[in-house]
Amino acid sequence: MPDISVKVDGMNFANPFVIGSGPPGTNKNVIGKAFDEGWGGVIAKTVSLESDKVKNVAPRYAKLKSRETGEVIGFQNIELISDRPIEIWEKEFREIKDKYPDGMLIASIMEECEEWRWKELTERCEAAGVDGFELNFSCPHGLPERKMGSAMGQDPDTVEQVCGWVRSATKKAVWAKMTPNITHISVPAASALRGGASGISAINTILSVTGVDLDKLRPVPTVQGYSIPGGYSCQAVRPIALRMVMEIARDCPGAQISGIGGVERGNDAVQFILMGCHTVQVCTAAMLQGYGMVKGMIGELEEFMTKHGFETIEDFRGHALQYFTTHYDLVEKQKVAREARAGQSSRDNEWDRENITNHTSKLTANEAETESASQPASAAAKGK
Ligand SMILES: Cc1cc2nc3c(=O)[nH]c(=O)nc-3n(C[C@H](O)[C@H](O)[C@H](O)COP(=O)(O)O)c2cc1C
Repeated sequence: MPDISVKVDGMNFANPFVIGSGPPGTNKNVIGKAFDEGWGGVIAKTVSLESDKVKNVAPRYAKLKSRETGEVIGFQNIELISDRPIEIWEKEFREIKDKYPDGMLIASIMEECEEWRWKELTERCEAAGVDGFELNFSCPHGLPERKMGSAMGQDPDTVEQVCGWVRSATKKAVWAKMTPNITHISVPAASALRGGASGISAINTILSVTGVDLDKLRPVPTVQGYSIPGGYSCQAVRPIALRMVMEIARDCPGAQISGIGGVERGNDAVQFILMGCHTVQVCTAAMLQGYGMVKGMIGELEEFMTKHGFETIEDFRGHALQYFTTHYDLVEKQKVAREARAGQSSRDNEWDRENITNHTSKLTANEAETESASQPASAAAKGK
């Protein structure tokens, strides 16, 4: 049986699967359920010092469904951070760690931009026994109106400063959670590492408007007839998350990354590990499928590792990164390839008006049989 445990940043995860901050980590009961079902870690719902400033609305979710199957593809939320008092969280953190000493419990923290606030919050959570911290620089709605969340994460200097404050208050793991609502995600990621963060979590939700109700002519989710853009998650965001994780891994070599965004299966998580992640977080899928999904994810990860002969996660972590290059280089590689197969023509003038779907299919990497360098990677990965 392959070894799927992960040691990172002073923490020992029984497996790389971690509940991402949000409703699935919203109190002691549900966090306990996650550990009972076998999750390697839980990032609790984001806490702050003054929960009475947090006022949620309902409804606060909206789903984008497949036209054909009704499957949920995208999920929007306008939920804020935890509205539960820090004193309750301190008590529950202690109780969870007493009951699940081997489950990795990470406090997600967020505050206004004042040194004493971040330090006090860090020290109180640390005293309550958490294993590490995730700094929420990334919630895209509601909190930015108080200059928190993604309003901080979009300012690399602030990210660096806040990471420095938290670093001076704890020796434990400090992961900075990045907003995707920015042009170059590796800029604030590098600032976080410079400031003293030991790892990067990416991504939080993508600012979105899921749709407009065509009867009422109003955007959803609608609260008293009005709405705001919210955070988009679920499988639709996975390709964007993978790209952003790839950029962080490429631009911040050696960074410890916790990948997040649209993970629903073991094989989704494997793709984040192939991009360099140590751990992989799941939020929306746990809300839609329940905590028991982790068993299927563990099975799929073990199956993948057995198929390729990988004994540990380190045998393949980051393996796919070496296959990113420039478009110029792709053209060069194609030019020197010995024979161009008929279906791989890249000349635009060969498209005729009758066969656009065939042309599209032939140029699609995961449909057409291509001659690209895709030998089974197991041996190469282990020797990387
Ligand atoms: C309803 C909801 C609430 C969330 N609340 C938080 C939060 O309090 N803190 C945080 O850092 N991220 C929060 N997130 C973001 C998730 O942790 C995660 O970064 C994002 O949803 C992408 O992952 P997913 O596709 O697996 O959900 C929330 C997401 C959802 C859907």
